[in-house]
Amino acid sequence: NFALSRLFTVQWAKGCILIIILCAYVAGCYGIVLDAGSSRTTIYVYEWPAEKENDTGVVSQIFKCSVEGPGISSYKNNPGAIAKPFDDCLNKVKERIPAHLHKNTSAYLGATAGMRLLQNETAASEVLASIQSYFRAQPFEFRGAHIITGPEEGVYGWITANYLMGNFLEVKETMGALDLGGASTQISFIPEDSQDYSNSTLQVKLYGYEYNVYTHSFQCYGRDEAEKRLLKSTASFKVDNPCYPQNYETAFTMKSLCGSLCTQSLRPANYHPNQLVKFHGTGDPALCQEMVSLLFNITACRDRDECPFNGIHQPKVKGNFVAFSGFYYTINALNLSGHFSLSDFNSSMWFFCSRSWVQLHFMLPKFEETYARSYCFSANFIYYLLVHGYKFDAETWPQIHFQKEVGNSSIAWSLGYMLSLTNMIPAERKLIQLPLKPSLFVFCTKTFILTADYNFACCPKSTQEGYFRISTPFSCMCFA
Ligand SMILES: *[C@@H]1O[C@H](CO)[C@@H](O)[C@H](O)[C@H]1NC(C)=O
Ligand SMILES: *[C@@H]1O[C@H](CO)[C@@H](O)[C@H](O)[C@H]1NC(C)=O
Ligand SMILES: *[C@@H]1O[C@H](CO)[C@@H](O)[C@H](O)[C@H]1NC(C)=O
Ligand SMILES: *[C@@H]1O[C@H](CO)[C@@H](O)[C@H](O)[C@H]1NC(C)=O
Ligand SMILES: *[C@@H]1O[C@H](CO)[C@@H](O)[C@H](O)[C@H]1NC(C)=O
Ligand SMILES: *[C@@H]1O[C@H](CO)[C@@H](O)[C@H](O)[C@H]1NC(C)=O
Ligand SMILES: *[C@@H]1O[C@H](CO)[C@@H](O)[C@H](O)[C@H]1NC(C)=O
Ligand SMILES: *[C@@H]1O[C@H](CO)[C@@H](O)[C@H](O)[C@H]1NC(C)=O
Repeated sequence: NFALSRLFTVQWAKGCILIIILCAYVAGCYGIVLDAGSSRTTIYVYEWPAEKENDTGVVSQIFKCSVEGPGISSYKNNPGAIAKPFDDCLNKVKERIPAHLHKNTSAYLGATAGMRLLQNETAASEVLASIQSYFRAQPFEFRGAHIITGPEEGVYGWITANYLMGNFLEVKETMGALDLGGASTQISFIPEDSQDYSNSTLQVKLYGYEYNVYTHSFQCYGRDEAEKRLLKSTASFKVDNPCYPQNYETAFTMKSLCGSLCTQSLRPANYHPNQLVKFHGTGDPALCQEMVSLLFNITACRDRDECPFNGIHQPKVKGNFVAFSGFYYTINALNLSGHFSLSDFNSSMWFFCSRSWVQLHFMLPKFEETYARSYCFSANFIYYLLVHGYKFDAETWPQIHFQKEVGNSSIAWSLGYMLSLTNMIPAERKLIQLPLKPSLFVFCTKTFILTADYNFACCPKSTQEGYFRISTPFSCMCFA
């Protein structure tokens, strides 16, 4: 009898463990990424079924939240104040993830161009340290706050877009990725011949295929920084701005115009941070385009074909592209979506830019002054960047798809970042489907990041030296 009850207990315990494991499978796993951009921080929550961890296309976004207030780089003089605004979003995040899984949910923070532009390293590390200490008091497994480089941002965006579209399955063509942020813009695609661009090509090995992704990040060519450079291009204190809608009036302090690394060379000799500069909108699309063109140094390319501007070496654009974030929001304001002809874009832009400030109030579904006044500028900026910079023409323009999400998942670098840091995209294609094993569960909850020693494992042996690691063992990215 005793033996029987013991056996029963053991069996019962085994069954119970099995049930717990199965529950965990059913519940799935969660990951959190904080995208700390130059103008704001966005929190994404991702979910995936535990037993399908390495399959392409199974991770999806279940929640997104924008943190109130400016980007984290704005707290450079007051890092202690950074935490409070996070509370609102994180409380919502806690409601979305089952409480018993909080401890086993990893959170990553990646900061982009806004933080890259902070020259004061002390201030930058104080900002990151403040976030780190805030997360110490949170239930999640915080994996650190890092400033990611421009090429990383570009390639993670490319991975996200192609992952969500299922392009890593079989032999599908991949799409290029165009990302427009507040402080930088990225272009990433697979060129015809990557040999000549080895300096800016990243090797990405995913699901058994090797991709040579050309990527470039143009610092100071994000919407906000570019617009500041345009606004500050004249020396006077009362300025007509052809990119602002007719009859729009506003004023900025000198500090807000040329306080950043991108604009500090435009500071006047008698720089007073609190001096006001007044702007008056004239809504003149032709003149706006002309002023926007001055932001690009075309002469630095000296008739070289494979050069967008500023002397950068870039292969000819090839194939389909997806243009997200700032690209999407701008064309959406012009009432365009998906893909359309270049002349449609031009005429929508002209129509929009010729409207007065009062008319815009009735045209935009969601009217917010800071965005509304700048759409004409961003549209012209996008036109110039894509047509005169990257050299899209009437024929190739319709290959650009303006899109912000796939299903309910945003196209943003954040997902690609998490997939890479969690090793969820294996470099090798799975050959056999393994049966469910408890070890998989452990993998899901515990071993997210392996040690750095593995990081070069899949770079070509002979060329390991001098390679710059972008990521992780199973999604190897090597930067020649
Ligand atoms: C995912 O891939 C990693 C590395 O290849 C492996 O260790 C892990 O067991 C895989 N997980 C699943 C669920 O297949
Ligand atoms: C969650 O992770 C912690 C440490 O990483 C581990 O001790 C714990 O067992 C995990 N919980 C579950 C339910 O696996
Ligand atoms: C850099 O930031 C620290 C901390 O905010 C500040 O004390 C220091 O004066 C700053 N240095 C410069 C050169 O601005
Ligand atoms: C690669 O970089 C090196 C030095 O940084 C430069 O001399 C060379 O011209 C570059 N090559 C290409 C193809 O851009
Ligand atoms: C453009 O680039 C060229 C060559 O790098 C440089 O000499 C010139 O000063 C630049 N022009 C502007 C307006 O920055
Ligand atoms: C854009 O549209 C405007 C107004 O219709 C026209 O004047 C201009 O020539 C067009 N520009 C291009 C490059 O097609
Ligand atoms: C966009 O379309 C709506 C509805 O047709 C219209 O009311 C609005 O004025 C349009 N906006 C622009 C910028 O063309
Ligand atoms: C997107 O979210 C909505 C609302 O939460 C849901 O009804 C819909 O099924 C989701 N779509 C996909 C493709 O997951």
